[in-house]
Amino acid sequence: MITKNSPIGVLDSGVGGLTTVKELQRLLPKENIIYFGDNKNVPYGNKSQEEIISLTRRMIEFLISQNVKVIGVACNTISTIIDLISDDYDVKIIKVIDPVVDNIRNVLRKEKVGLIATNFTVNSGYYDKMLGDIKVYGKGSGELAAIVDSGKIDRIEVKEIIRTHVNSILEKESVDTVILGCTHYPIVKDIFEECYPEINFINPAFQQAEAMKEYLEEKQWLKEEESKAFKVYTTGDEDKYHTIMGMLQLELPQEIIQYND
Ligand code: DGL
Repeated sequence: MITKNSPIGVLDSGVGGLTTVKELQRLLPKENIIYFGDNKNVPYGNKSQEEIISLTRRMIEFLISQNVKVIGVACNTISTIIDLISDDYDVKIIKVIDPVVDNIRNVLRKEKVGLIATNFTVNSGYYDKMLGDIKVYGKGSGELAAIVDSGKIDRIEVKEIIRTHVNSILEKESVDTVILGCTHYPIVKDIFEECYPEINFINPAFQQAEAMKEYLEEKQWLKEEESKAFKVYTTGDEDKYHTIMGMLQLELPQEIIQYND
């Protein structure tokens, strides 16, 4: 049975969803969090829809077995297809894309935006569909998520990749706002900003965490006790979590657990 003390679940193909965990820790400091990163199979952005669905089901079913009260899909790639399977589960699933789209439409009120994301996300047209009249200039990257996920971030190499991608957006249209439409990218947001100080790079994790908070408030499921636990399950290598968590300045987990089928 779900109670206020049930944990919040967050999932991603790898370490990218930690950007959402960071915002959750800030907004909801009393909550228990269980994170699932499928690092063994990253990047999802170069896989087929069928593969992404089957890998995602495994993560959702694991989090449900941990009695989570809500699941944050902290992965843009998965968020583009999650509606195809979310009705199969009773738990509330909150995507990373829809809350940021609301913000761009209703708060920022942009007429055009750039989007840098995985090839799968860009090709899905999901942001374009959700943003309606707002023109989206997208560029997919086949390599950036995997480089960030490796935890071995060579700033010069990453700068080169960022410049190539963002320039290709700017060649199409001059935009002052670019959505970091892959949760791995805000981990290197400072490199984006160093390359393009005049552009506002949007990190959708903030709005996703807000949406999760609103849902829990509505259900009256906010945890009240102070004691809390943060656990990470990964199908990959736990060492990189220390590196990335250090970069994001996260509150560290009590445990990082190797997940095997
Ligand atoms: N973090 C995921 C996203 O937001 C993608 C990384 C991947 O390709 O697996 O799209």
